[in-house]
Amino acid sequence: MKSRSIATGLVLLLSASAANAERDIAFAPYAVPSSGTVAIVLQQEAWNEGAFAEVDAASDGALRRAVNAVAFRGEANQQLDLPGVAPFDRVILVGVGDGSLTPRVFEDAGGLIGQAGAGSPAASIEILWAGDENHAGAHLAFGAALGQYRFLKYRQPAADKPVTGEGEFIVRTPEAAADEALYRTQWAPVSRAVAFTRDVISEPGNEIYPESFVQRVKQTFDGIANVRIDVLDVSAMEKLGMGGILAVGKGSARPPRLLVVRYDGGRRNDAPLAFVGKGITFDSGGISLKDNDGMWRMKSDMSGAAAVTGAVFALAGRRAPVNAVAVAALAENMPSGTSDRPGDVVRTISGKTFEVMSTDAEGRMVLSDAVWYAQQQFEPHLLIDLATLTGAVRVALGDEYAGLFSRHDSLAAQLGVAGEQSGEDLWRLPLHPSYAKDLESPIADLRNGAGPGSGAGAGLGAYFIGAWVDEDVPWAHLDIAGMAWRETEGLPTAPQGASGFGVRLLDRFVREYHQ
Ligand code: BES
Ligand code: ZN
Ligand code: MN
Repeated sequence: MKSRSIATGLVLLLSASAANAERDIAFAPYAVPSSGTVAIVLQQEAWNEGAFAEVDAASDGALRRAVNAVAFRGEANQQLDLPGVAPFDRVILVGVGDGSLTPRVFEDAGGLIGQAGAGSPAASIEILWAGDENHAGAHLAFGAALGQYRFLKYRQPAADKPVTGEGEFIVRTPEAAADEALYRTQWAPVSRAVAFTRDVISEPGNEIYPESFVQRVKQTFDGIANVRIDVLDVSAMEKLGMGGILAVGKGSARPPRLLVVRYDGGRRNDAPLAFVGKGITFDSGGISLKDNDGMWRMKSDMSGAAAVTGAVFALAGRRAPVNAVAVAALAENMPSGTSDRPGDVVRTISGKTFEVMSTDAEGRMVLSDAVWYAQQQFEPHLLIDLATLTGAVRVALGDEYAGLFSRHDSLAAQLGVAGEQSGEDLWRLPLHPSYAKDLESPIADLRNGAGPGSGAGAGLGAYFIGAWVDEDVPWAHLDIAGMAWRETEGLPTAPQGASGFGVRLLDRFVREYHQ
């Protein structure tokens, strides 16, 4: 075929933009197929057990010779890809090590298989695990769903390359029916929420800005029960005196919004959990303009807002018995003749004022209004804010941990546990009383940063936000600047690019402590 007809081109275009290609996830009782592509979950050096032993026998020992040849042992997250192990087309081995078989271990193994599946042309990939500890099948499926994620919306499918990542995964475990029921009701909604969050973060700033973020969220929640969405526009925010978010938004042609997504799945009078997210749809730095190096990545500066709305989407999707509200502080930070400037004094909704030291410290500016509004409006049981707040937290913790700040030890400890269980790890950092001094302003109640080269960048940002939250409201701030976007290497359940960090963590936190 020389040239594609317009009709075919149109169909391709529509199918490409309709959804990201992915495999359906099916379940079947444990059995080893006699051909095709199989993914074997392997405990360390467990050569004589389960699917490995069976596939090895079916291949006349070829599998065992292959692992010996490259000294593969099946350590946790170790992977070996073997095409052409007759009679199989391909055998994917994924290690789970010799430690305890927690859900997280199965999710990571599933994630690696998901990634392998995304790059494979096979129509069907069978995931084999002969055990039934911890609902292994449900967590393998959850991991595979997370790991196979790709953002393909803006790519033309190449006509000369085979299609990959379409078809199905078949999870084969002894408790297939129970695993499937658990996956469909409890975990598929979370993977859909993570995909939603990754999608909005991946979108460029010309596509996602405050108003279109709101539209996207409304579409996503369409038809989901017990959810109510409210939006404050500029005039509503002016009436309330939200000077912080208005100051950040006013330099942009795209006006700011405060988005509230409330899910009531719990008892009628129970105070909700409040999740507040930084939603800078593009952070140029404003008048304190950033360097161009990596500035494109600041399209992801709304990751906190995407994560908190995604978390509520997960809770609503799995009908969690809890009340929760997500507040997204949405603005675009741009330099223009109407921008805020260094030295400006801003009055926030609480009445408290601050001096702008840098227009690039805009996250704490929008959050000052958003956390105070969430606290006054909803009288929440607790308040957690998520923000890509500082480069400093990446210097401190890299891309292994998000920074956790809290004045409440028990909340901090609970979040730490949820982080470990979900695979979205946190490391607690201090809120030292001396930071108050650093944030003193000669003209206003506070300033939004200390001078250049001064002290604890991530801690000062956290401390500033905390100044708008009552001391007796359990509050935690998560600085996710190092975690929201994975530049080079992905994780098993979070391929390169937008990670969706925070959705699984908050979902886990709710499962563990609030339902
Ligand atoms: N959005 C940035 C922080 C950021 C940096 C997120 C790198 C993700 C990757 C934030 O608004 C910012 O510019 N922070 C400043 C704070 C400073 C001006 C007090 C920073 O980290 O330099
Ligand atoms: Zn920012
Ligand atoms: Mn900034």
